[in-house]
Amino acid sequence: MTPENSPFEASSCQNYESLHQTQQPHKSSAPRNRTLTCSPQELESLSQCLISLNTLVNVEAIAGKIIHQDLFEAATYLPEAFVDLLILDPPYNLSKNYNGHVFRQKDRAQYEDWFREMITAIQPILKPTATVYVCADWKTSMAIAPILDSHFHVRNRITWEREKGRGAKTNWKNNTEDIWFCTCSEQYTFNVEAVKVKRKVIAPYRSKSGTPKDWNEEKMGNFRLTHPSNIWTDISVPFWSMPENTDHPTQKPEKLMAKLILASSNPGNMVFDPFLGSGTSAVVAQKLHRQFSGVDFNQEYCCWAIKRLQQAQTNETIQGYTNGVFWERNSLNHQLAQRHTPTD
Ligand SMILES: C[S@@+](CC[C@H](N)C(=O)[O-])C[C@H]1O[C@@H](n2cnc3c(N)ncnc32)[C@H](O)[C@@H]1O
Repeated sequence: MTPENSPFEASSCQNYESLHQTQQPHKSSAPRNRTLTCSPQELESLSQCLISLNTLVNVEAIAGKIIHQDLFEAATYLPEAFVDLLILDPPYNLSKNYNGHVFRQKDRAQYEDWFREMITAIQPILKPTATVYVCADWKTSMAIAPILDSHFHVRNRITWEREKGRGAKTNWKNNTEDIWFCTCSEQYTFNVEAVKVKRKVIAPYRSKSGTPKDWNEEKMGNFRLTHPSNIWTDISVPFWSMPENTDHPTQKPEKLMAKLILASSNPGNMVFDPFLGSGTSAVVAQKLHRQFSGVDFNQEYCCWAIKRLQQAQTNETIQGYTNGVFWERNSLNHQLAQRHTPTD
């Protein structure tokens, strides 16, 4: 998307150009801290780019927009059957303070009721060919799996090794999250070639004639493009030295969203995120030339999302995804080398 057709140039977003130039230093003094924040002035200006719904709307009214509202209220005004890819990253069944909005852990039956009500509210917005990804921790998964099963075709459960978790004295450290892969029907998009993982070859077997078997010799070493499995070990949680980082307590990595979006949508498709948070899915959808929209009831998070979207207009980089390829973790040097040699 170019600045010329940006959804943020509406008259309500007057200060778009000047805000585009500013990057506030983070409150922490660490010199390499690149965490994105908004000054009070930016919050005031960026909040004018947000919309909230009070009447039934068509797709054009929400495409490229961030809806600052409670999802349950917004859902009653959304168009029917407009979503190709739904990314659901709801509050897990844990007590969590989302910048003043506190989600309290419920007993399992109460959480199931909340989750069922939420799915029922948003199911009408899905196209019959839509894909739905749902994030959860292992305990939340136990509650939601039967509900997903009764509403969708559950096709897989991806396990993401987060590489960050709190150690426990009487339990195993919780180091993974689930991402449930569901579709609305048997007809759905899955672009496997778009999400292959580039790995260093440990055992470079050759055929009798000496040619590499399923791998390539490159300047930086020997690599293989492998089929993506349902165990993802190549994605780190955003941290303070990454430009995509915000202070959102449960921000998802852009690389993770990129895999979901590339696999399960095509350019121009509509990606919708009802619990948008810092805007990761919308930012990645924009970088990958999909349409997007999303909802969050926290105004500051919505503003972070808008600021990230603005930055994405001139920088479509997705850390860990270079030249159309996903790289295994800790391979930044190889990726940088490839960026400089685009013919590789
Ligand atoms: C798990 S976080 C999503 C994080 C997001 N994927 C990201 O990368 O930043 C859940 C988000 O849902 C929002 N939320 C929770 N309940 C909501 C509701 N009823 N309506 C709208 N937003 C809600 C919270 O403010 C929070 O930002």
